[in-house]
Amino acid sequence: MDPFFNTLGRKILDHWKQENFSLQKFPQIARSTLDTNPPAKHVNLASLMREFLLTDDQPLQTDSPFGEPEIVTYTHPRFYIQLLFWMEGTTAIHQHEFSGAFHVMHGSSIHAHYEFQNAQPITPYLKVGNVKMNKMEILETGRTMPIISGPQNIHSLFHLDSPSLTVVVRTQHDPGTGPQFNYLPPHLAIDPHFSDTLTMRRKQLLDVLAGTEDAGYPQQVLEMIADLDFERGFSILHHSMAYLQQIDAWKPVLQAFEKKHSPLAAGVAATLKEDARRSVIKSLRATVIEPEHRFFLALLMNAPTRDDLLALVSQRFTEEDPIAIVLRWAQELIEVSDAGVTILDASFPDTLQIESELQPQLFLSAFRHFLKPEKKLPPVIRDLPAADVKELRTSFAESSLSLLI
Ligand SMILES: [Fe+2]
Repeated sequence: MDPFFNTLGRKILDHWKQENFSLQKFPQIARSTLDTNPPAKHVNLASLMREFLLTDDQPLQTDSPFGEPEIVTYTHPRFYIQLLFWMEGTTAIHQHEFSGAFHVMHGSSIHAHYEFQNAQPITPYLKVGNVKMNKMEILETGRTMPIISGPQNIHSLFHLDSPSLTVVVRTQHDPGTGPQFNYLPPHLAIDPHFSDTLTMRRKQLLDVLAGTEDAGYPQQVLEMIADLDFERGFSILHHSMAYLQQIDAWKPVLQAFEKKHSPLAAGVAATLKEDARRSVIKSLRATVIEPEHRFFLALLMNAPTRDDLLALVSQRFTEEDPIAIVLRWAQELIEVSDAGVTILDASFPDTLQIESELQPQLFLSAFRHFLKPEKKLPPVIRDLPAADVKELRTSFAESSLSLLI
């Protein structure tokens, strides 16, 4: 392993040992040691990778699937240092069962901080409450942030460059601070590591019914929802939502869950809808590579309102009007194919009788109009029947761009 990490690990160990391995002091020790010895300045990535590939004498590696991949660069019984690669990945909104600090070694990320208000545990593995975003910031290469275990440090990272690299200095495990909840805005927290094997197998069996297009699928799910407790019912609901929507059988199942678990279930529909919206944005990362466009995706995923989104655009691009920047991104992201015209996951409505070569410009004009409504309608919009304008608006409102419309 690169000797830099051995030296870094020993410095942290010496300092922490002097503090009698105080858990409260570890994040600050990790952070200050990373700040005075920044991996972003001192590590040659190409030679680290070559050495790791060719030399057997390495720290013990984990089987964690968290990074893409995760490389352990230093290990001690009390703490270890890992190098996380991020290619496509973005983290869920999560808390930690460990503490320490992370350092952006390469690339940059959008970092969002949250709190979970009015938490009401339903089981040890699921809570309802309100996920509230407090702050979003851009972490550039070289930034170091502390990690505090437990619910006071809930965050998510959306990496803008591919690959992005973070160095994490972390304890092995902070007793009593678990489980490591993931948060599903706006209203749920679940333990992603809880293994309910019966529910897992039931979901797989439902997939068999879906895969064979069994007509009894919706009724089967309805009966399960009528019988199951909140936690397992939510898990089945979450799993079967996409297929039930596809076969137009979603509404009665959702209503059955809401009726059985009222008033606890009040925030479930909004949470599932938001989860689906976030999944679409995550999947768009596979095709959207340009860092500015990824920045746009990160804002669409995490900004609570349109004004928050535009404020964050202004923060990064101080010289330009944020609306003009968003419009430029929309123009760059427009795609024309045999399947039609799209901006991200918003598609030009196929119900409109418009010649195909005119569709891209019309779609962009409509987006501009919905983003920044003007008293005087632009000619291309003014000439359209009201029903067509409504269709265009619906197309954006049902896409990941809905925040802006
Ligand atoms: Fe984290």
